[in-house]
Order: sequence, then C-alpha cells, then structure tokens
Amino acid sequence: MVEAVDGAHEAIVWKVEPHSVAEADDFDRSSWQLDRPRFKIERRLSFEERSFSDLSITGNLRPVDSYGSMHSFGAVPTPTSPAWSPFELPPMVNEAWDALRKSVVFFRGQPVGTVAAVDHASGEVLNYDQVFVRDFVPSALAFLMTGEHEIVKNFLLKTIHLQSLEKKIDQFKLGEGVMPASFKVNNNPTRKTETLMADFGESAIGRVAPVDSGFWWIILLRAYTKSTGDLSLSETPECQNGMRLILSLCLSEGFDTFPTLLCADGCSMIDRRMGVYGYPIEIQALFFMALRCALSMLKSDAKGKEFMERIMKRLHALGFHMRRYFWLDFQQLNDIYRYKTEEYSHTAVNKFNVIPDSIPDWIFDFMPCRGGYFVGNVSPARMDFRWFALGNCIAILSSLATPEQSDAIMDLIEERWEELVGEMPLKISYPALEGHEWRIVTGCDPKNTRWSYHNGGSWPVLLWLLTAACIKTGRPQIARRAIELAENRLSKDGWPEYYDGKLGRYVGKQARKLQTWSIAAYLVAKMLLEDPSHLGMISLEEDKFSSNLKFHALPKRLIDLRLVPYSLGWLADYPTTTAAAATPKQPFPPASPFDLPSPTAPHRPPTPTPPPPGAIGGIRGVEWRLMTSNLLVPVSDMKAITDLRYFSPHYDGDTTL
Ligand code: GLC
Repeated sequence: MVEAVDGAHEAIVWKVEPHSVAEADDFDRSSWQLDRPRFKIERRLSFEERSFSDLSITGNLRPVDSYGSMHSFGAVPTPTSPAWSPFELPPMVNEAWDALRKSVVFFRGQPVGTVAAVDHASGEVLNYDQVFVRDFVPSALAFLMTGEHEIVKNFLLKTIHLQSLEKKIDQFKLGEGVMPASFKVNNNPTRKTETLMADFGESAIGRVAPVDSGFWWIILLRAYTKSTGDLSLSETPECQNGMRLILSLCLSEGFDTFPTLLCADGCSMIDRRMGVYGYPIEIQALFFMALRCALSMLKSDAKGKEFMERIMKRLHALGFHMRRYFWLDFQQLNDIYRYKTEEYSHTAVNKFNVIPDSIPDWIFDFMPCRGGYFVGNVSPARMDFRWFALGNCIAILSSLATPEQSDAIMDLIEERWEELVGEMPLKISYPALEGHEWRIVTGCDPKNTRWSYHNGGSWPVLLWLLTAACIKTGRPQIARRAIELAENRLSKDGWPEYYDGKLGRYVGKQARKLQTWSIAAYLVAKMLLEDPSHLGMISLEEDKFSSNLKFHALPKRLIDLRLVPYSLGWLADYPTTTAAAATPKQPFPPASPFDLPSPTAPHRPPTPTPPPPGAIGGIRGVEWRLMTSNLLVPVSDMKAITDLRYFSPHYDGDTTL
C-alpha cells in the first residue's frame, strides 16, 4: 500500500477557470459533448407509485465528529432530511439505503467513499474493508441520483490525489497515470491523524494493477458533471491532468497491431486468473466509454487538443475493430466455422487465423438464431467465445454496440434467460470452465471453481448495468423481471457478493454478506426504472451523423445514407437502377478502407452493391460513393469516409439523418 503524505493534499487549492466544455466545443466534439444538466421530468405519481428518487434526501451525510472514532465508516445510519420519510419507501429499499449509508467511509470528517463489504461475521477481512474504485461506482450513482453529490466529489478528488503518488512493485515503478484499485483510511489514534493508504496492485492478490480503475474514474467524473451540471470540477487543472495521465497510459504507441488494449489477467472486476488476458471485452468496452467521456470533458487548450485528436483516431479504429471482429451471432459463427486457415496477405478473411476446430462445442447450441454478443477476447489464433456481462452492458451504454447489436444483445439475454440470468441476475461469465480446462486456465483456483465467483457465478452488482442497458434499448420489462428475481432473495440472504450454481441458486461459497455494490446496484436499478431520465448519467448516445457531414455540405434531409466503395472496373457490370432499395442491410460495418482490394486486384466484393446513377468521388484509386435513397453525393477525402464509417456506430448501411 502507498500512503499519502499526511495532510499534503489539504493544501491544494482548486483553481477554477471561467471556461466551459460546451463553450469550448468545436465541430468534432459537437456530438460527444456533455449535455447541459438534465431537465427534471415532473410527473404526478400516485402514493403507491411515488418514487424514492423523487423524494428529497439530500444533505443527510453527517461527518464523524472526531478522529477518535474506532471505525471510519458507518457513522451515519439514519437519513436526516425532514422531507424524507422512511415509511414511504418499500421496506427492502429502505433497508438498502440504511445499509448503503452504513458503508460510507469518512476521512477527516468528510465522506469519501463506501467500503466494499460490511461483513463483520466473515473471519477474513482481506481487503473488503477498503474503498474500491470500481465498487464505488454504483454507490456514487445512487448518491448522485438523490442529489448527494458531496461524497462523489470528495471521492474523485481524493483518488486523483492518490494517482499522483509514486507507485512501485518491488523495484519496478508503475506508470504515472495508474489509479488505485482501492484505498483505506489509516487511523493513528496516538497521533490523532488519519492518512489514506492506496493499493495500486502491489498488495493485491496476484499483484495486478487495475486497468479498469482509471476508466471508471473518468466515467464517474462525467456522471458527476452530467448530474450536477457543475463543470468546475472536471475543469480543474488536477482533473484535466489526471485524465491526461490516464489517457497517456492507454493511447501510447508501441508494438500493437490492434487498437484494443493489451492486458494481463486479473486487471479488472475479474481480478484473478481466469484466462481473460489479452484483449478482454470488459476493458475494451470501458476503454471506449472512457475515451468518449474524456473527449466530452477535456478542455480544448493546447494539451487537451492534442489528446482529443488522439482520442478521435483511437475511437475510430477501436469502434471498427470491436464491431467487426468481436461481434458474434449465428451468421458470424457459421462463417467462422467455415473459415479457411493459413491465409496470408491483406485479402485474408480469417485475419487472426482462428482454427475452426478451436470453437467450443457449447457455442453451437447456445447461439440462438435471434441475438448476438461481443465475445470475451480476440487475438491471434484465439477467440474466447465466453459471454461476459459487464463488457456487453457497457458496450450498449457507450454505444460501442450499434443499435442493431444492442438489440441483439438484449435478444440473446431473453433467449438464453435461464443460462445468463437463471434465478439471480446476472452471470458474470458463461459458461464455466471445468475439469482440465479449469486447472490449466485458472491455475487450479479454488475460489473460481465451476459456476462459482468469477467462473460462471452470478453477481447482483451487475443488475444496475443490465437495467441501464434495458432502458437504453427500450426493454424495461426485462429489467423488471430481473429486479423481481433479486427481490426474492437479496435481502433475505443478507445482500451477498455473489451466488453459485448453474442457476445462481446458492449463496456463493466465499461470498461476503452486506456487500456494498450488491446493495447499491439494487438501488440504482430501482431508481433507473422509476425515473429513466437518470440514464443520461451513465449512457452515451450514438453519435449524430450530421456532425460529421456538415463539412460536405450535404442536403439536410437525406435518408438511407450509404457509403459504398467501388473499383472503377467493377462499375460496368452493375445495373444502374433502384440501387439503394436493392442493397441488403448489413449487420456489420462494411469492410475497412484498408481491407479493400486495390483496384487492379482481381477481387470483387463478395456481395456487390449496385450503384445508382450519380456523382462519383475517387480516393486512392478506389472509387467511393455516398449513396442515399434518391441521390448520390461525391466524397472526396479519406477523412470524410472514416468519419462516416467509424463515427456513427449507427452506420451499418442505413442511416436516417
Ligand atoms: C473481488 C472482486 C472485485 C471487487 C472486490 C471488492 O475481488 O473480484 O471485482 O472489486 O472483490 O468487492
């Protein structure tokens, strides 16, 4: 653990410059920027319907009085706002709020986070008495949804201070931007002092640094800014610098051939060896979301601008790579099943040389005709076909998934409800590794036996992500069903950390009780359902196509926009009528411009799209057309094409402006 120098951070003065994200916006950011504070949607509710989110419970976090308290958390058991009446809340919600408040950690009298679990009965505390960055996110959202911003602001400031500490594992120094996995308040009763101790992975089991912490920090900073409308926090030099340091870590160029982020096993929520090393979906989705959030908050000063440019480029490439290579549905599975191997050169279809024999048997039965998902990992000759809930939900929330892909993920959850939800939402991964595979992949981890913990266990914390994804895709009924399941068990079982078994029927073998993020996730899920306008805090809309088109002076009302690459030679063969209507809708983004055969190559697109008559633009020897249902627009630079392609997750051949 790294200890913060006592009192050093108290001297920091936050200087707020008169500048706003929105004002500083330029064309590139116009569709990514933070919205102004959301409108409070007023609606009349019957007494039974009254949402606890509508009730004012602000200002009820009381600081502990002195340094002398034995525990630095749990000091505020009761809400104090006069407007708040506990009798108006369903008993389980009431109980959850009570438990959440008891988990609050104080530092020098200020609330700074929530402890991972308040399980006094559990013999081994390990690090469950600490504030984990990832665990605090649902707590923070719950507090933001009720207008209690202070704890979130304090948390963001304390953790950004911890980031600036020097971190070392043995003799090796970690990157400046690394954020802690967790921290705790160290009490010195004799000296009557409190200090913060952070763990960047040097104490963690397995000694892995948390790649997800920095991403969650950025995502939470945006949630705070969006919820409060207060830009002054994100615009402080400390927050701007903190963001840039996190980004420097993951935007640096090196030996990478993919835009995805290469990771060690155990660097995220799944913080033990589980065969997720490489390019895990959880990290890639969080990376994408954090990039988009950062883009909306970086100031466009000289330093900020440089990062914004790098972010844009990475988002283009990352979005394309994920949508194209990580996506799996029935058709794609069938294609992989029929893959040729050992293909060389740019024309390879099986780019990563995945050997069809490595496809596990279970996937053939599991894959429904309707539905799809982002697989766990893709790297040379390796596709991890397992389902991971967090990455897929974040893909929906960040709009990494196209609207069609988001719908398909929800379809899959519906179609495979028993496997993915069972009796307790939600399986962290599916299916479980067993027998020999478990021995080899987990290193015989006794905590991660089949259908337990990270290996196919069911985690109530994922309920908030599922609910948010359901609301975003317009399927609240799925969330309702899941919440009902959780309500049958969670409180009765003492709010466990996770459940075991194929159906998630058993309280996890080593699960902590009163696990804070299980409690907070339930509250967030309930509040999201009650008032869907909260969704904006943790969801990013798909990019507006128009912002990328305005340079090309396109007519405002185009429908069925389509960008089609053609080689001059191919044109002669195509009929020239009813072009757009005849083009089938593509489930994936079209091929990358870099994948296209050169005009002189003897290849043709596998399913050529007939072009309508109209203007033609030429790029690098390949002819491109921007095709609409009723007119063609020439496109004359490569940037326009990559913008159209990558910037709109919606872009799958049809886009309505
Ligand atoms: C376990 C989980 C991790 C979580 C921590 C604290 O280690 O795997 O994701 O952050 O517990 O709850």
